[in-house]
Amino acid sequence: MCRRLIESGAFAIDGVVHDNPRESLDARGLTFTLDGDLWEYREHVYLLLNKPEGYECSTSPTHHEGVHSLLPLPLAVRGVQPAGRLDHDTTGMLLLSDDGAFLHAMMSPRRHVPKRYVARTKHPVTEAMLQALRDGVLLRDETEPVAATDVTQASSHEIALTITQGKYHQVKRMVAAAGNRVEGLVRTAIGGLPMGDLAMGEWRYLTPEELLLLPYEAPASGK
Ligand code: URA
Repeated sequence: MCRRLIESGAFAIDGVVHDNPRESLDARGLTFTLDGDLWEYREHVYLLLNKPEGYECSTSPTHHEGVHSLLPLPLAVRGVQPAGRLDHDTTGMLLLSDDGAFLHAMMSPRRHVPKRYVARTKHPVTEAMLQALRDGVLLRDETEPVAATDVTQASSHEIALTITQGKYHQVKRMVAAAGNRVEGLVRTAIGGLPMGDLAMGEWRYLTPEELLLLPYEAPASGK
């Protein structure tokens, strides 16, 4: 818990304010209020956020607000990090956690965690473009072609595709290399977990069942 928050008198257990940050408390099963809002102690948090346009995933954002500003203070101050980045103009599914092992598992290039996107294109979708994405396209500064899987056409100017790498601007660069241009990008699933219903800009905790759909083995007590 953030020292300044505790010192400000915002932290209370059963209505009793605890404002000494050095006080040691048994965290197991602890519920507390922060500025009157009820919270339950969790060793780690695993969050799903529907990222809106115009937010940066960086912890030190430079040109736009950071995604942390969409989280309540008690979560923002406990050091949650996005599990991979979305561009400021990409919307959709973002996972955040303060569990380093989880973040590593989600982001490690060796794990090839699938990420599904829907891309709106400037020009009409063509069969040649879909095939190029399936076959693999060579991106600038790369030596090997990169291919997408489950590439489907969603409408005249929309495709869905899955990638298993996390290269910089990967979908936009792949679509450009296939002769089109991305004008809007939404991430709709990570691993076996779909975004589901969550309003833009909203967050929620992942359930233990949802965590099982991700390639991560959490320690029993951490879920
Ligand atoms: N690919 C991109 O081009 N941008 C993103 O934000 C994610 C994947």
